[in-house]
Amino acid sequence: MSNETIISVSRENRIFRPSAEFQRQANLGNQATYKKLYAESVNNPERFWRTQALKELVWRKPFRDVLKWSPPHAKWFAGGKLNVAENCLDRHMGTARENKAAIIFEGEPGDVRTITYRQLLFHVNRLAHVFENLGIVAGDRVAIYLPMVPEAIIAMLACARIGAVHTVVFGGFSAEALKDRINDCKARLVITADGGWRRGKVVELKATVDKALEGAPSVQTVLVLRRCKNAVHMHNGRDVWWHEAWEGAPNRHEAKAFDSEHPLYILYTSGSTGKPKGVLHTSAGYLLGAKLSAYYVFDLKENDRYFCTADIGWVTGHSYVVYGLLSNGATVFIYEGAPNQPEPDRLWRMIDRHGITILYTAPTAIRAFMRWGDNYVLRHRLDSLRLLGSVGEPINPEAWMWYYTLIGKKRCPIVDTWWQTETGSIMITPLPGVTPLKPGSGTLPFFGAAPKIVDDEGREVPRNTGGKLVITKPWPSMLRTLWGDDARFRKAYWSPLLGNGDCYITGDGARQDKDGYFWIVGRIDDVLNVSGHRIGTAEIESALVSHHAVAEAAAVGKPDDLKGQSLVVFVTLKAGLQPCDKLKEELRAHVGKEIGPIAKPDQIRFTAALPKTRSGKIMRRILKEIAAGGEVKGDTTTLEDFSVVTSLIANEE
Ligand code: WT7
Repeated sequence: MSNETIISVSRENRIFRPSAEFQRQANLGNQATYKKLYAESVNNPERFWRTQALKELVWRKPFRDVLKWSPPHAKWFAGGKLNVAENCLDRHMGTARENKAAIIFEGEPGDVRTITYRQLLFHVNRLAHVFENLGIVAGDRVAIYLPMVPEAIIAMLACARIGAVHTVVFGGFSAEALKDRINDCKARLVITADGGWRRGKVVELKATVDKALEGAPSVQTVLVLRRCKNAVHMHNGRDVWWHEAWEGAPNRHEAKAFDSEHPLYILYTSGSTGKPKGVLHTSAGYLLGAKLSAYYVFDLKENDRYFCTADIGWVTGHSYVVYGLLSNGATVFIYEGAPNQPEPDRLWRMIDRHGITILYTAPTAIRAFMRWGDNYVLRHRLDSLRLLGSVGEPINPEAWMWYYTLIGKKRCPIVDTWWQTETGSIMITPLPGVTPLKPGSGTLPFFGAAPKIVDDEGREVPRNTGGKLVITKPWPSMLRTLWGDDARFRKAYWSPLLGNGDCYITGDGARQDKDGYFWIVGRIDDVLNVSGHRIGTAEIESALVSHHAVAEAAAVGKPDDLKGQSLVVFVTLKAGLQPCDKLKEELRAHVGKEIGPIAKPDQIRFTAALPKTRSGKIMRRILKEIAAGGEVKGDTTTLEDFSVVTSLIANEE
C-alpha cells in the first residue's frame, strides 16, 4: 500500500497532563528519569536489560550473555536458567504477599472466589503433578480451552512449572478452529470444562472439544473441569475429570529450572494469508518484558486491584492477566461472562463491589458501553478507580473522552498501550505519572522499544507523515519464530524489502507528530480488526467457500462506530444458484460454525464477479471503498475488468 493511503486525518490536539497528586505517588513520576532510562535502554540495551533481569527475575543459574542477535533470531539471557511459575508464585512465599489475594474471580452467575498466592501455588503444584502423572513432559504442547475461570490461570502456570508449552484457544472459537490449532502444534493434552457461562447460558466447551478431536489424533488425554454441571460425555480411556485427577496429588512440587529460551507458549493469531500463525514466546525475556511493563505502565502498588477485561485466549490475557501481573505480586480480578449480563452495568457494579483500582479494556468495549447509555454508569460510584487502560485498536478521541470523563471522572490517567501478540509486551504507551496524554495517541515508546516510521523503501519519513511502523532493535519479549514455520516468520516480519534486514515490520501504519507521539492508523495489510480481534480475510473467505453454494468470496472491513470495523463479505455463487435472504442467514451461521461467532459477517453482498488483478488476485482495497459507500478513488489500473466495479456500485445496498 502506498504511503498516501495511510496518512492520518486526525486533528486531535487536546493535552492532559498528569495531576500533581498522581505524579507524586507514581512508580515513575519524573520526566527526566523516563528520558534517561529510555535513552539507556535503546543506546545501551545490554547494560539496561542486564540490570533489569538481575533485579526483576529469580534465577536458578545466572545467564552469560544478555543478547545473541543473529537477525531475525534473538537469544536473550543465554546460559541462564529459571522457572517462570516460580517467578510468579514461589518467590512471593515468605513475604507479605503470601496471604494476599492473587486472583479474585466473579463468575457470570455472581459466584465469587478469592485465591491467595499461597493457595494458587498449591493449586498449580497439584496440577503439575497431575500433568506429570499423565505423562506430560517438558516441551510437550498442551491446549487450554477453558472459560475465564481461575483454573485457566492455574493450567497455564502448571504448564510453565513443568516446562510444557501451552497454547490457549479462546473459548469462543469453533471446533474447526480448535482442531486446526491442536493439529498445528500436535498437542498431547487438552484442558477444557464441561461448559462456561455466557449471557445466562452454558457454552458447551466439552462438546466442542469432542467434535474437534474427531480429527486431532495427537491428543491422548482430555482433562475436564466441572464448572456448569451440564451433562457431558466422557470418553473412556481419554477423558479425565480435573477434580478426580487432582484428588490426592501432593501440595508440593519441585520446580525444575529451564533455559531462558525454553518455549513458554504458542499463541495463534491471524495472518493475511493461509492458516493462523503460531507465535512462539520463550521464558526469561518474555517474562521480563511483561513484568517490567506491567509495573511501570499500570503503576502497580501493593493494594491495587487490577481488572483486565481480556479473555485468557488473547495475548493481553497472557501478559497482563497472568505473567506480568502475578510476577509483580499483584491482585488480579477476573470475570467469566458478558459485560451486559444481567444488565449493561455489570462492569461498573463489579468495580464498586470489589474496589477495583485499575481497569484495562478495549476501545470496542468502550464504544459498546457508550451505546448502552450513561445511566448505567451513573448508577455506580467508581471512586476506587485510579488508572484506566486501553488496548487492541486505535481508540477514537470521542471514546477516549467518554472513558476519561465518565469512567475516570477526569481523575484517572488513560494508558493507551500499543503492542501485538508478536511483541509480547507493551511497546508504545504513556507512563501515567509523566506522559502528557493526547486522546487517540499511544504517545511514546516504552523502555527498550525502538519504533520508527518508514516509507516503502525503508527510509524514515518526516514527522506528520504516514508510513509503516517498524521496530529497529530486538527486545526481550519479542516472538522467537512461528511454530513449525521459520520461513514464514522471516517472510511475514523481516522482509528485506525495507533494505534493512533487521527491522521488525509490525504491519501497522502510523505517523509521529511534532512531539514525537505515535498515532496508529491501522493495519496496512488485509487483516481485519473486528471488535479488537484480528481476523484474517483469508480465514473468513475459506470458511465461506467451504459452503456448497459459494464460488468465491472476499472479506473486507467497513468503518464501524461500535466495533472499529464491521465485516462485509462479497460472495459469488456457484452457477445456477440464486441469491436469497435465507442463503445469507445460512452463510452467516456457517462462518460462525467454522471460525466462531466473532467472525460472522455483518453484511453479505452477492455479486456476479469480484474485482481482480490480471494475475487473479482479488483487489480488496477496491471492495473496501465500495463497502464504505464511497466512490472508488484509488488506482484501478491493475484491474482486470472495470465493469465489475461499475456493477458492484450500481448494486449498492
Ligand atoms: C494489533 C495487534 C496487543 C493486544 C491486543 C491485540 C492493533 C493494538 C493498539 C493501540 C492502536 C492497536 C494494532 C496491532 N492495536 N493496540 N493501543 N492503538 N492499535 O493483539 O491481536 O496481536 O493485534 O492491534 O493494529 O498491530 P493482536
